[in-house]
Amino acid sequence: MDLPRHHTIREGDQRIVNPFTAEKLAALGRAVRLRPGDTLLDLASGRGEMLCTWARDHHISGTGVDISTVAVDMSRRRAGELGVTDRVTFVHGDAGGYVADQRVDVAACIGATWIGGGVDGTVAVLERSLRPGGMLLVGEPYWRLDPPDQETVEACHATHRDDFDDLTGLLRRFHGLGWDVVEWMLADPDSWDRYAAPQWLTIRRWLDENPDDELAGQFRAELTADPLRHVRRREFLGWGVFALLKR
Ligand SMILES: C[S@@+](CC[C@H](N)C(=O)[O-])C[C@H]1O[C@@H](n2cnc3c(N)ncnc32)[C@H](O)[C@@H]1O
Repeated sequence: MDLPRHHTIREGDQRIVNPFTAEKLAALGRAVRLRPGDTLLDLASGRGEMLCTWARDHHISGTGVDISTVAVDMSRRRAGELGVTDRVTFVHGDAGGYVADQRVDVAACIGATWIGGGVDGTVAVLERSLRPGGMLLVGEPYWRLDPPDQETVEACHATHRDDFDDLTGLLRRFHGLGWDVVEWMLADPDSWDRYAAPQWLTIRRWLDENPDDELAGQFRAELTADPLRHVRRREFLGWGVFALLKR
């Protein structure tokens, strides 16, 4: 059980594996008014940047769960760099069925709602670990503009237009599930660029060093195609983290 090698190579040494900059991630931590001592469960925690920086900046504690052994190792190293190893724990595993031993103040899934089969299922997974009155944080794409054709849909990591809501639809979805949307932080085209563009240089450098690797052909094709696809992505695809409190 691990993340495919392709993803790990492509994401290189990126600390945040979503279209947020470090500034936006920090602004989100302030916006949701974390209190010292709060507990956070982060499902699909990636390289642990949210949990580690928020533990440092807001004196919270918590657990991150991720299916990638590389990401879990990076998370533990980051906790050491930031001096928060006594307050954060990173677990390797499938987050789809993960339930915390003790209910938490904040439960998050940032950019991986497939772990629960979509937004609805992931909200249900998170809620199982949340204390009454606690907050959910859900990171999810949405259509900024209606995609005009299938090429645009696929450039935006979707198979069908209906794979994502528009922003209004996503808010209505949260309301329909019984949650108030009480804060949000949205990506913008520039922060999308900071997620996508570093991967092109990573891929190019990797190709230069590994021309005979079995993944070289795939990465060669991606390096040519992805900047062109990203032109559409940064225009049509939004992404945000939504803070929810149960009605
Ligand atoms: C788009 S990244 C987001 C990472 C992190 N939340 C962030 O914002 O930086 C998706 C993450 O989900 C993890 N992942 C994918 N499927 C998973 C699963 N079933 N259980 C746990 N983690 C999973 C990947 O290893 C990857 O780290």
